[in-house]
Amino acid sequence: MSSHGPQAPPCLPSLPIIGSLLSLRSSHPPHVLFKELQEKYGQTYSLMMGSHSVIIINQHAHAKEVLLKKGKTFAGRPRTVTTDVLTRDGKDIAFGDYSPTWRFHRKIVHGALCMFGEGSASIEKIICSEAQSLCSILFEAAAVGLALDLSPELTRTVTNVICCLCFNSSYRRGDPEFEATLRYSQGIVDTVAKDSLVDIFPWLQIFPNADLRLLKQCVSIRDSLLQKKYDEHKEDYSDHVQRDLMDALLRAKRSAENNNTAEISAESVGLSDDHLLMTVGDIFGAGVETTTTVLKWAVTYLIHHPQVQRNIQEELDSKVGRDRSPQLSDRGSLPYLEATIREVLRIRPVAPLLIPHVALSDTSIGDFTVRKGTRVIINLWSLHHDEKEWKNPELFDPGRFLNIEGTGLVIPSPSYLPFGAGIRVCLGEALAKMELFLFLSWILQRFTLSIPPGNSLPSLEGKFGVVFQPVKYKVNATPRPGWERNKCQAC
Ligand code: HEM
Repeated sequence: MSSHGPQAPPCLPSLPIIGSLLSLRSSHPPHVLFKELQEKYGQTYSLMMGSHSVIIINQHAHAKEVLLKKGKTFAGRPRTVTTDVLTRDGKDIAFGDYSPTWRFHRKIVHGALCMFGEGSASIEKIICSEAQSLCSILFEAAAVGLALDLSPELTRTVTNVICCLCFNSSYRRGDPEFEATLRYSQGIVDTVAKDSLVDIFPWLQIFPNADLRLLKQCVSIRDSLLQKKYDEHKEDYSDHVQRDLMDALLRAKRSAENNNTAEISAESVGLSDDHLLMTVGDIFGAGVETTTTVLKWAVTYLIHHPQVQRNIQEELDSKVGRDRSPQLSDRGSLPYLEATIREVLRIRPVAPLLIPHVALSDTSIGDFTVRKGTRVIINLWSLHHDEKEWKNPELFDPGRFLNIEGTGLVIPSPSYLPFGAGIRVCLGEALAKMELFLFLSWILQRFTLSIPPGNSLPSLEGKFGVVFQPVKYKVNATPRPGWERNKCQAC
């Protein structure tokens, strides 16, 4: 405790109405700017976003205090204009405030994901079947010497896994409904929660706003697709079969409606149609963009580091061989690939500021006092690039996650939280890790990735939105020796 007793964290200069906006003008994305500002204000400081007080945390001890030690106190989420449009006023999990409704929906989704979960064969089958389709497309492109923008291919692959989990259905290449999904997802990523001015100054909504208009259009396309799936599920719902997440939610809704004496009645836990749709929409949103973006960063770094690619391929050749495809049970024997995935998640966290948390009562972080209602942003970028914790943090080095012998995995610093932690930890962590492992191992067993001759290497800078994405570029997927004439051998 400081000699002057508990006090608020240092605050950036702030003016009435506009808050600290003048100190936040920068050509850098917010997570980079927030990291730079710690040199002047310390690792934990505050600023004003319009009339809201926001604490920025750039170090792991304070981050863990917020997420783990005082997880419940900091489990709130702020309401913002853009997330309210996306989630019908917070009727989802990710942007929904801490409440019995949120807890209940999280439990159902968790249960439904476990139904397909780790150890169960079905999720592995779903992912491998999508990996097979993806590899077929790469073989077809290679056969005619075509370089591909992998972004829509990876998005469809990951979308199909989530579609199977949520709706027990999937999309073929060129399906018009899938093309619509692609367009609305990108529109949402480009407009939601990216330090949008209307989120800081909600009264700006009365003026025409191109971003907000685009977001509303995209949300309305998403909603009509979700409604269609919901209506189809209601029509052929049966109490005896649970095909997917939609069925799990429908069953919970019906049993709460039929059993109002239970401590969970349909109204008390928010099982309205809106809540149901927004929860599924959330899993879709949170499950597709994040995993796809990590895959895109992985490909981008592998292209920049051909030696890392070769190391993974040698590991695959010696531990899996060519007569069969990688499976989840190979995870333990492919530490270099696992270390590479960890390093991608460290160097380019897709949610570099997590999702903002809110203090639900007066509390403290370290020696600093925190008032109820204060927003707290954990700057994962600072944690993952902290020079005191990571040697040469901008260097892409999977070896830092391996023991000295290179045979086992380690977490070399406590300053590593790619999926957050505690009560709001990512709901899809296990699923995402299975997808990253299987998709990357299938691709690298069969192909070497590079950029077409004459093209320059893709930028590692990234584009900031609700997730932090790499820019678009084309990739040559060259079949490895022994795989040249196979469209999809050993799939
Ligand atoms: C590599 C891929 C992924 C990464 C890096 C990632 C990361 C994160 C992070 C950092 C958070 C915020 C934690 C916080 O606010 O403290 C989060 C929340 C969340 N994630 Fe993920 N995620 C990924 C994939 C997924 C998948 C596949 C799903 C769904 C199946 C999912 C569902 C969610 C949900 C529902 C939340 C909100 C949890 C809550 O607020 O209670 N995520 N994720």
